[in-house]
Amino acid sequence: MNVPAPIRWENGKLLLLDQRRLPGRVVFEEHREVESVVRAIRQLRVRGAPAIGVAAAYAMAIAWRDGDDLEQAAAELRRARPTAVNLAWAVEKMLVALSRGVDLIDAARAIHEEDRAMCEAIGKHGAPLIEPGCRVLTHCNAGALAVSHLGTATAPMYLAHEAGIPFHVYVDETRPVLQGSRLTSWELTQAGIDHTLICDSAAAHLMADGGIDLIIVGADRVTANGDTVNKIGTRSLAIVADYHGVPFYVACPSSTIDPATATGAEVVIEERPATEVVASIPAVAGVKVRNPAFDVTPAELVTAYATEFGVLDDIGECLRRKSVRKP
Ligand code: MRU
Repeated sequence: MNVPAPIRWENGKLLLLDQRRLPGRVVFEEHREVESVVRAIRQLRVRGAPAIGVAAAYAMAIAWRDGDDLEQAAAELRRARPTAVNLAWAVEKMLVALSRGVDLIDAARAIHEEDRAMCEAIGKHGAPLIEPGCRVLTHCNAGALAVSHLGTATAPMYLAHEAGIPFHVYVDETRPVLQGSRLTSWELTQAGIDHTLICDSAAAHLMADGGIDLIIVGADRVTANGDTVNKIGTRSLAIVADYHGVPFYVACPSSTIDPATATGAEVVIEERPATEVVASIPAVAGVKVRNPAFDVTPAELVTAYATEFGVLDDIGECLRRKSVRKP
C-alpha cells in the first residue's frame, strides 16, 4: 500500500514533511529544537491531531537529549495549537516517561508506534462499514499525513481497497486551506483509491440526490459526552447528513478522547489568521474576516465512533475498554 509517512526519526534526526508545499513538492525538513517544531505546528507544516502529538513527543525527546528545560518545552508545545487534545496528551505522556526515568527517545518512538497500531485497528474495525458500491464522503484530511500510518478516517478506506471492495470517495476540498484537495486527494491518488473532489458546499446537493451512503471524518477532540471537535465545516456536514438520513461516523483513536472536558462547548476553538481566508482573493484584502479552524458536532448527530476498540455508539465505551486493557 502506498501510504505517505510525514514524520520520520532517522539517525537521531527529526524529519517532518512540509505539508504546506503539498501536493506540488515533497520536502522533508529537519527540526533540531522545540521552537522549530512549535513553528511547524503553528504554520501547519505538520498538522492533524495525532501527527502534531507525535511531532511534539519527538520535540520533547530532542529537548531532553539537549539538556533543555522540559517543563518549559512542554508549555511551549501545548500552546502551539489549542484545540487538538493529542498534543497535550503526547506531551503529558512524555512528562510521565521522564518521571519514570525512561529514555525519552524510546518514549517518543513508542507514541509513534502506538499511533500506527491504533490506525490499523481503526481500519480493521471500520472497513466493514464500506460495502461494495458504497459512496463515502470525507472532510479535511484525516489520512496518513495527519497521523502516522493509515490515518483515521481513511484507514477503513485503505483496508477496504486492499480487500478488493469497489467503492468511491467524495472529498470535500475543505476551505480555507484545502486539506481535502491538496492532501486527501493526493493520498487517495497515491493509493489508487477512486475519488472525486467536490466543493464543501456541494455535499448537501449530493446527499439530496441520494449520492452519498455514509460519511467518515476524523476528530481533533471528542469530549466526554461524545461531542466531536473537527475541522470547520464538519458540523454543517453532520446536520445535513442527519436531514438526509446519511450515517455519520467519526474515526478517532482513544488519544483523541478528552474525558476531562464534559462537552464541546468548553473546548477552545483556534482562530487562525485572516490571510488564510483572503489569500486567493486580494480584491477583498482589508475586509473583516473570522477564521475559526474547528467546530463542534453534537454527539447526537454522530452515528458511531470508529475506534481501535471497535465501532462504538458510545464514546465512554472506548474509554472503558481502554481501562480494561491498560489498568
Ligand atoms: O487544521 P488541521 O489541518 O490540523 O485540522 C485537521 C483536522 O481537522 C483533522 O480532521 C483531525 O485533526 C483529525 S486527523 C486524524
